[in-house]
Amino acid sequence: MSIGQLKIGLLHSLIRKEEKLLIEAFRNAGVEPIMIDDRKLILDFHTAPDIDILVERSINHSRALHALRLFESAGVLCVNSYHVSQICGDKLLTTAALKDNDVAQPECRVAFTEESALEAIEDLGYPVVLKPAVGSWGRLLSKINDRDAAETVLEHKAVLGSYHHSIFYIQQYIEKKGRDIRSFVVGDECIAAIYRTSDHWITNTARGARASKCEVTDEVAQISIAAAKAVGGGIVAVDLFESDNGLLVNEVNYTMEFRNSIDTTGVDIPAIVVNYVIEQVKQR
Ligand SMILES: Nc1ncnc2c1ncn2[C@@H]1O[C@H](COP(=O)(O)OP(=O)(O)O)[C@@H](O)[C@H]1O
Ligand SMILES: [Mg+2]
Repeated sequence: MSIGQLKIGLLHSLIRKEEKLLIEAFRNAGVEPIMIDDRKLILDFHTAPDIDILVERSINHSRALHALRLFESAGVLCVNSYHVSQICGDKLLTTAALKDNDVAQPECRVAFTEESALEAIEDLGYPVVLKPAVGSWGRLLSKINDRDAAETVLEHKAVLGSYHHSIFYIQQYIEKKGRDIRSFVVGDECIAAIYRTSDHWITNTARGARASKCEVTDEVAQISIAAAKAVGGGIVAVDLFESDNGLLVNEVNYTMEFRNSIDTTGVDIPAIVVNYVIEQVKQR
């Protein structure tokens, strides 16, 4: 089958810069992606859509997760897979997968009540970071520096929070000297990395951090690939902290954003992603 005949579905919500870049890269490879808008999607559990592969680019985790589950049960090959999305979309499941695979990460505790969460925080020692297990773009993260703040945040979550906020995911705060590393893994390869530098302790570029090139050293490549493998592989972006004890994996992202990283690294990330997707279909 020639590349032009491949039926590549692209699941999306809004078409962001990343999706535009991917569409362009698919066209450059000689294939026109079939756009599947998650806002219009109706799934019936058994009818397989007429595509060879689905590339997941939804903006919304639960839509992505449920759509992938149903696409897979209809027999569609999905990148990333339901399994990978499920693990990466939940920081608690990610931490468990990293632990199962001996990948270095910050100390973490999980608790289910205000009282036990406070005990866990005091045991880890200040500062700690409290995060919603499901969330992104640095939203609703709390750096807690002392017991007063811990009590306040926990009470607010217990009283005002939804179900998701009753699972307390508590991480040791890593002194990361104003930056973290975002590396990109496609298949078995760590293709690029950036530093994200900010005056704020939250270094998401969505929150204004500056992106600059980071060399993909052996150490960066090794831990990034190990993290990607631990969550099931595919196309992922890994957040790394440079700690006194070497690199630690903070989280793994499955619908990766890369708009700030192409010019910064000189790596044509969308072209590599497209290549990988085409290879997956060919190998099937
Ligand atoms: N334990 C931590 N120690 C130091 N900084 C942290 C820690 N956890 C998160 N951060 C900062 O907050 C940012 C966002 O946290 P992250 O866990 O990646 O959540 P999100 O899914 O919202 O990106 C990180 O990139 C980092 O800059
Ligand atoms: Mg992150």
